[in-house]
Amino acid sequence: MRGKFISIEGLDGSGKSTQVRLLASWLRHMGRQVVVTDEPTEGPVGRIIKLALKGTFRLPVAAEALLFAADRLQHVEEVIAPAVASGKIVISDRYTASSLAYQSARGLPLRWVMMINEMAPKPDLTILIDVPPEVSAQRINRSRRLDEFERDLELQKKVRQAYLDIVKACKMKVIDGNRSIDEVQEDIRRLVKKLL
Ligand code: ADP
Ligand code: TYD
Repeated sequence: MRGKFISIEGLDGSGKSTQVRLLASWLRHMGRQVVVTDEPTEGPVGRIIKLALKGTFRLPVAAEALLFAADRLQHVEEVIAPAVASGKIVISDRYTASSLAYQSARGLPLRWVMMINEMAPKPDLTILIDVPPEVSAQRINRSRRLDEFERDLELQKKVRQAYLDIVKACKMKVIDGNRSIDEVQEDIRRLVKKLL
């Protein structure tokens, strides 16, 4: 029996990894086999992306978008597709919607980002944990110079708006993430229950 593929989306600090962990443990308690994974991956392409994100070298925004898409295809082939084919529930912390939101917020045409991601299979369920950027920034409590932080906050605002703009196109379910961890988890479980 085919499994299910769920992706969880949102800003850094929106609570994705916290919610993924709780969802996985709930599903395992119900006796389901669960694979938790994330993007960018630890694979060869993902490692290049992470170096660029750390500032080790700079990549043109479009080249970065192509790397995210390439990393995703390898992720699908090596991790996601085999697990789903063997009946497991795969939960990915970030997937295609991250590229659509972040790379379009960084100035790339949304249609082009969609096109380079066409080969990536659609998840059975994508959940967007929506939080105001001020809240997610506070949660991750990054220490930066104010001007840099402000610039970052501007980008986060654009990313949040880009996510909200693609809700329909990506058939995402939006959850208000500006609540307690338990309340958010309850909504996520309700959505996942419908899928099982
Ligand atoms: P992400 O994976 O989206 O970056 P995390 O799950 O790592 O986010 O959460 C970032 C920080 O915020 C962590 O310290 C986490 O404990 C905390 N956090 C997560 N969800 C909530 C919430 N609903 N309310 C308050 N703090 C939260
Ligand atoms: P992530 O691993 O979630 O961040 P962290 O390791 O800090 O928790 O993702 C790294 C960054 O990459 C994050 O800011 C979002 C960005 N990103 C994109 O811009 N496009 C993508 O397609 C993906 C998957 C991530």
